[in-house]
Amino acid sequence: MTSVNDIRATFLNFFDRNDHQVVQSSPLVPRNDPTLMFVNSGMVQFKNLFTGQETRDYVRATSAQKCVRAGGKHNDLDNVGYTARHHTFFEMMGNFSFGDYFKEQAITQAWDLITKDFAIDKDRLYVTVYHTDDEAADIWKKYAGLPDDRIIRIDTDDNFWKMGPTGPCGPCTEIFYDHGDHIWGGPPGSPEEDGDRFIEIWNLVFMQNEQFEDGSMVPLDMQSIDTGMGIERVAALLQGSHDNYQTDLFKDLIEASAHATGVDPYGDMNVSHRVIADHLRSTSFLIADGVLPSNEGRGYVLRRIMRRAMRHAHLLGAQDPVMHKLVPALVKQMGQAYPELTQGQAMIEETLLLEETRFKKTLDRGLKLLDDEVSGLGEGGTLAGDTAFKLYDTYGFPVDLTQDALREKGMTVDVDGFNAAMEEQKAKARAAWSGSGEAADESIWFDIAEDKGVTEFLGYDTETAEGQVVAVVVDGALADSADKGTAVQVVLNQTPFYAESGGQIGDSGVLKTDGATVTVSDVKKKAGVFIHIGEVSEGTLTKGAAAELTVDHGRRSAIRNSHSATHLLNEALRNALGDNVAQRGSLNAVDRLRFDFSYSKAMTADEIKAVEAEVNAYIRQNSSVETRIMTPDDARELGAQALFGEKYGDEVRVVSMGVQGGSGKGLDKNTYSLELCGGTHVSQLGQIGLFALLSESASSNGVRRIEALTGQEALKHLTGQSAALAGVAGTLKAKPEDVSVRVQALLDERKALQNEVAELRKAVAMGGGGQSAEAEDVNGVPFFAQVLKDVPGKDLRGLIDEHKNRLGSAVILLISDAGGKAAVAAGVTDDLTSKVSAVDVVKAAAAELGGKGGGGRPDMAQAGGADAANADKAVAVAKTVLGA
Ligand code: ALA
Repeated sequence: MTSVNDIRATFLNFFDRNDHQVVQSSPLVPRNDPTLMFVNSGMVQFKNLFTGQETRDYVRATSAQKCVRAGGKHNDLDNVGYTARHHTFFEMMGNFSFGDYFKEQAITQAWDLITKDFAIDKDRLYVTVYHTDDEAADIWKKYAGLPDDRIIRIDTDDNFWKMGPTGPCGPCTEIFYDHGDHIWGGPPGSPEEDGDRFIEIWNLVFMQNEQFEDGSMVPLDMQSIDTGMGIERVAALLQGSHDNYQTDLFKDLIEASAHATGVDPYGDMNVSHRVIADHLRSTSFLIADGVLPSNEGRGYVLRRIMRRAMRHAHLLGAQDPVMHKLVPALVKQMGQAYPELTQGQAMIEETLLLEETRFKKTLDRGLKLLDDEVSGLGEGGTLAGDTAFKLYDTYGFPVDLTQDALREKGMTVDVDGFNAAMEEQKAKARAAWSGSGEAADESIWFDIAEDKGVTEFLGYDTETAEGQVVAVVVDGALADSADKGTAVQVVLNQTPFYAESGGQIGDSGVLKTDGATVTVSDVKKKAGVFIHIGEVSEGTLTKGAAAELTVDHGRRSAIRNSHSATHLLNEALRNALGDNVAQRGSLNAVDRLRFDFSYSKAMTADEIKAVEAEVNAYIRQNSSVETRIMTPDDARELGAQALFGEKYGDEVRVVSMGVQGGSGKGLDKNTYSLELCGGTHVSQLGQIGLFALLSESASSNGVRRIEALTGQEALKHLTGQSAALAGVAGTLKAKPEDVSVRVQALLDERKALQNEVAELRKAVAMGGGGQSAEAEDVNGVPFFAQVLKDVPGKDLRGLIDEHKNRLGSAVILLISDAGGKAAVAAGVTDDLTSKVSAVDVVKAAAAELGGKGGGGRPDMAQAGGADAANADKAVAVAKTVLGA
């Protein structure tokens, strides 16, 4: 038997042999298309190559692309399980030419692959061509030898493929397989074409036009090829069935579901097994690509699919959660072709288990309500919209789950009534919000949220993405456009830009549309709307335009470093200071962080050192950082740190990092740090690089603040410090490690020298200097004066006292010439103060030395002077105070 894995390999090998580059599937969340919810065909990742906007180093490619059709326009969810070919997830194999080969080679290659490599019976094949495409019809006739009645001309859009309202497009030719007359259905173009007998297996699109929003279509500069073959259909065909769920891959998953529930895989409950098998694929692949269940956007589509499967598990009588038990079977089947599935296995299992555990809490009661409500309705009845809304709002039943439950009973839901109830709830929320006292000018964001929906954040997984400009705000008012130089606030349906919250600053970067470039300097969030704040730096920005958004990568990486380091710091502090340390606030900026926490006293140097060392040890451990979604209660139960006083929604992201004891993985007792956090983080702790703690100080009463650097900034800081140290060591002619001892030795030496100098000065002052050491008699008063060199003013008082002791009874005047300036002091022994005041003596002397004033007491006074040159004259003048 040709397995699905063989088929994929045969397809890719065929085109590899024919000089095509084998390209990995792109993630399910499109990075390059703002209008698409999920990637739904192989060409999405190549979109810009067809229009010539982008070139790569290959012109031929082949891929097996993951696709999801469960939200937006292409929504197959309702039918999945009940038909042979509907899926929420499927693989599209394709080959692509970008301006290289065109119709002829596309058709001949396709024919060779299916008739030779896949050995499909030629006589069962039909093709369609666009009604005017004689060239394609001719090639089929000549190369494949198909008779005219098996080359069917179709004049509808079925044979003119468009990816959406805009983008590359062109006529196509489709290959059909006839499963035989035992199955009902007619060839394409016939009234019975919707039957299961004639199945399209491959679509070859001749990309030659581009469709624009205004409805115009222009020829592209180059002619290209885009093809799509659904692997599930071809597998069914090659395995002798028309039913995709009969293939090896699906059988395996269905049997896993039967094994887990103990219910016959092919009996009455086969539909439920099919639903579970299909939904297991879409949910697992979506989770592996970073989508997590939520109540908005893509996350809600995921939740709808999950819960639909979970209700079917319930129908199969499962008491305990089932979906997570089936993941190993899927990984075994598809993990080799899609390694992200293997890598994400733990995360997928955990997310499914949490969601199913949570949903089970309301499922029974919701189903009971539903049973009660429909018991009065007969076949063909309609469930009231407000009941469907209650099931949604109170019991977590997505409306399509309710529809699915009623489908078995032949009943429907009043969808208009459901929507009206939803609107009413929104209006109430708005009224509550209006009364909450927010500034009036903020209401614009609430209006945008209500009108256009909240912004979907893609930035956990990507730093570049396309978004659609849903609102342009200039000076607080909605605008249709904004010209160059205008300060704008731009709202998009989705964005990779992080909006400031939880201490993490907003991203900056560039927003480009066809007509404009906006430099985004900051992003804020109001009412779920991301406000990109910036200036139109080129052209004119218009509302409705598709924009390419690029986050400043270096800056974002540095912010991530600091945010992840903050989590490590939080944990290290609790380890060093005790579990009652609680976060009080934080700032996560560009490789710089501030962390406030409750603690009553200053940390010791040893504690600081230990915290810094512990954070760095976990950085070096380089374990991966993991994120999960759960309810705040579940998260707290697991011991996750939450911010005091913070309001959390129904769902929270829980970020875990670090493994204690160096073993174990994921969320278990060895997890080092576990925090509720909506921020962006490094994927491996080693990316932080380095953590340098700058300071620990008091922030407010009972709250301490740590400031620290990470990554590049930490390195810059430390290298700056060591350069400074090297400079000092150079000056000292010492090794850096000896600097401390050497500096201490110098300080000791300096102190000893200062003491020595003071002693010497004193000795000089008391005995030397060539001046008389005896007092002279001035008008009957013993007077002693001395002019000194370089004795600091503060030392003069001590000298005066010494002279007083030595002379017993005298008026003493000391003048010191310190670098040209004068310091003056006078002293009078107590027996003479009634005759002479030291203040008068000092004042008289200082006046002569260019000084003003002088102060002190009658027994001791001091002054300064600008010029010491007149010292002798000053002594003479001082004597006049004694009546000389
Ligand atoms: N892009 C084409 C399709 O999806 C091949 O059918």
